[in-house]
Amino acid sequence: MTSLAVDNTSMLSSRADAPIRVLVVDDEDTIRLVLAKYLRTRGFEVVTAESGDAALETLAGARFDLMLCDVRMPGLSGVEIVPSALETDPDLGIVMLSAVNDAPTATEAMSQGVLDYLTKPIELQHLYDAVQRALHKRTLLREQRRVERAIRDEVADRTRELEQEKSHLRDLTVTVVETLVTAMEARDVFHRGRSARVAELAASIAEYMGLAPEVVEDVRLAGRLHDVGNIGIRDDVLSKPAALNAEEYAHVRDHVRLGVEILSPLRHIERAVVFMGDHHERWDGTGYPHARSGESISIGGRILAAADAFVAMTSSRPYREPRTQEEAVEELRRQSGTLLDPRVYEALRVVVKRRQSLVFIDAIHG
Ligand SMILES: [Fe+2]
Repeated sequence: MTSLAVDNTSMLSSRADAPIRVLVVDDEDTIRLVLAKYLRTRGFEVVTAESGDAALETLAGARFDLMLCDVRMPGLSGVEIVPSALETDPDLGIVMLSAVNDAPTATEAMSQGVLDYLTKPIELQHLYDAVQRALHKRTLLREQRRVERAIRDEVADRTRELEQEKSHLRDLTVTVVETLVTAMEARDVFHRGRSARVAELAASIAEYMGLAPEVVEDVRLAGRLHDVGNIGIRDDVLSKPAALNAEEYAHVRDHVRLGVEILSPLRHIERAVVFMGDHHERWDGTGYPHARSGESISIGGRILAAADAFVAMTSSRPYREPRTQEEAVEELRRQSGTLLDPRVYEALRVVVKRRQSLVFIDAIHG
């Protein structure tokens, strides 16, 4: 038998100055009375209950440190009340009192959170030792739960802080990138405001395709910065009022590589940079810079390709008049399945049509 020294501090409940409260549950009057009387002489505050139902009722109305509970009782058995008792008070220590032939049941109850069990007839000293052990175990478990809770709270706090920090960094980056794009577009009258139109159309397409909100936002951002690499392209080529020769075309193509190079240190907008890097890839693999095809092109890249083409066709260029939206959609329909992802084309067609009807409604009500 393990002999535990009687330690006065361990006789105290979690309320430092209050005595330990024990609920004794047994349908046999004699056992109830003997146990209660004995435990009171050892300094415990004891309440008794004669059934499982009565025990649950008592637990609902008052807090206890420990419950000594008979296994076999009429009505709810001791084992049956364990889950409800622990739900009422997860810190309640429970020790089962079982007849010899109920021992397997009592053992099983240990897996439900019971701290110990005693086999009747119970020797009072054994009872006292078991109570002390159970209280000690309960203290350790409570402490363990407290530490786990504290760690969980700490992790949740840190995660929240990190998320806020990440979102703040992203906002800051977006502002800087927008400034860069605005500055870049300011020197080129034909590209001014174009990235904003690509961003808005690309985000609408992404939304229509049911992409997650954060992906839609990355598509929008990628639309805004898709041509940021033009900053490294010679002015005379960028604003040439005629078709480009082979050398000039190769130079212009380099804007994708340059853009990725400029923005890749910004790790918190990584996905938007990937989308941007794919905006000149084509569905059939004839694009650049990697000649990727089909779904190996990021979804954002496929959407940007369509939005960029639509905005280019409907914008004024030095050497040609803009096409109407209907003409542009019709032209892109011919590219669907070759240059463009057919699903993206379909989404663009619906989004453009929907926007036209909104403009129409505005015109009526305006
Ligand atoms: Fe581009």
